[in-house]
Amino acid sequence: MDAIQAPIIAVIGDLIRQHPGTISLGQGVVHYGPPQAALDAARAALPQPETHQYQDGAGIPQLLDAIEAKLRRDNGIDRGNGLRVMVTAGGNMAFVHAILAITDPGDEVILPVPFYFNHEMAIQMADCTAVLVPTDDRYQLDLDAIRRAVTPRTRAIVTVTPNNPTGAVFPEAALREVNDLCARRGLFHISDEVYEYFTYGSATHVSPGAFDGARTHTISLFSLSKTYGFAGSRIGYMAYPERLHDAVAKVQDTVLVCPPVISQIAAVAAMDVGPAYCRRYLPELAAVRDVVLSELRALEPLCTVPAADGAFYCFLRVNAQADPMTIAERLIREHRVAVVPGHAFGVSSGCYFRVAYGALQKATVAEGIGRLVNGLRVLLEKVRS
Ligand SMILES: Cc1ncc(COP(=O)(O)O)c(C=O)c1O
Repeated sequence: MDAIQAPIIAVIGDLIRQHPGTISLGQGVVHYGPPQAALDAARAALPQPETHQYQDGAGIPQLLDAIEAKLRRDNGIDRGNGLRVMVTAGGNMAFVHAILAITDPGDEVILPVPFYFNHEMAIQMADCTAVLVPTDDRYQLDLDAIRRAVTPRTRAIVTVTPNNPTGAVFPEAALREVNDLCARRGLFHISDEVYEYFTYGSATHVSPGAFDGARTHTISLFSLSKTYGFAGSRIGYMAYPERLHDAVAKVQDTVLVCPPVISQIAAVAAMDVGPAYCRRYLPELAAVRDVVLSELRALEPLCTVPAADGAFYCFLRVNAQADPMTIAERLIREHRVAVVPGHAFGVSSGCYFRVAYGALQKATVAEGIGRLVNGLRVLLEKVRS
């Protein structure tokens, strides 16, 4: 455990608490809460004795039915025919389940960089090696680098689209190549799709689990955290090949026994409202994103911000020699704005920051980004001079 990085959001959170008035562009959360129907369902379920008893490990039947319908409708994934679904306490747990189910100690899992930090942490906790492969200058998958990284110990390739921390959306062709490569080399394709509904402009989300032949080797991960403002209720789910079921069920039984029943009941009501709920907020998020990107682009050539067509992040590249953690700390201390340094996402050289704008509303975005732009100008000019 000593070799595993400390959770960066907690580190940044501590600094924010020490400096009241800091605007956080740090944590990847949305500004809205769950649908009213979910709150009502949870309230109605509270007095029921079954709510407080152990339930089926894979999830309550009503939620599994709702997920099955959603997977078919929104992802083109048909649950029958060799595919299983398990409800987990969030997408992070689904990833841990997947890693524990498919690896032996010493195995390798390929992670394109920048990665989502909890993915690397989970792989290392399973005593496996995260094999880091670069992405291109727009943070798109480098398929040759991925192919070259496969060894006899490789068990899986992970893709996250729409991406955290870059906001990149991977096109169907690239995802197909990864999925085909996995099929040919006997690997699993772990596809993290927790931002599936968060795309802007002409970008569209594609689920690799829907590709022909994918069901035998694709593990698809989803979450209600972002879509339904459900982060604290901890509901996610995974669709995975039948042959993994015994292993996944063992992990579930050991770690969670069953997903929190009250949250599952609320989740059924939320999924009944459907993705129209989060789509209502997308125009506002898109407007916030426009402000963020155009303000940050005003920092060029000091900084570069590649296209970020999904999720609610962009990944800023600073064209100066500076230590990202020092700059991040000084941004909080001296400019009262928080971002996450790039090394947390596996970028070990250069100076990068993730900017998260999901929690901002239009009223605060100008102030937050203004502080960031001003702070970076001041701090980086000092570094350069
Ligand atoms: C790519 C990605 N996967 C998974 C998660 C975990 O989400 P949760 O465990 O809340 O479902 C996050 C959260 O930020 C994420 O960015």
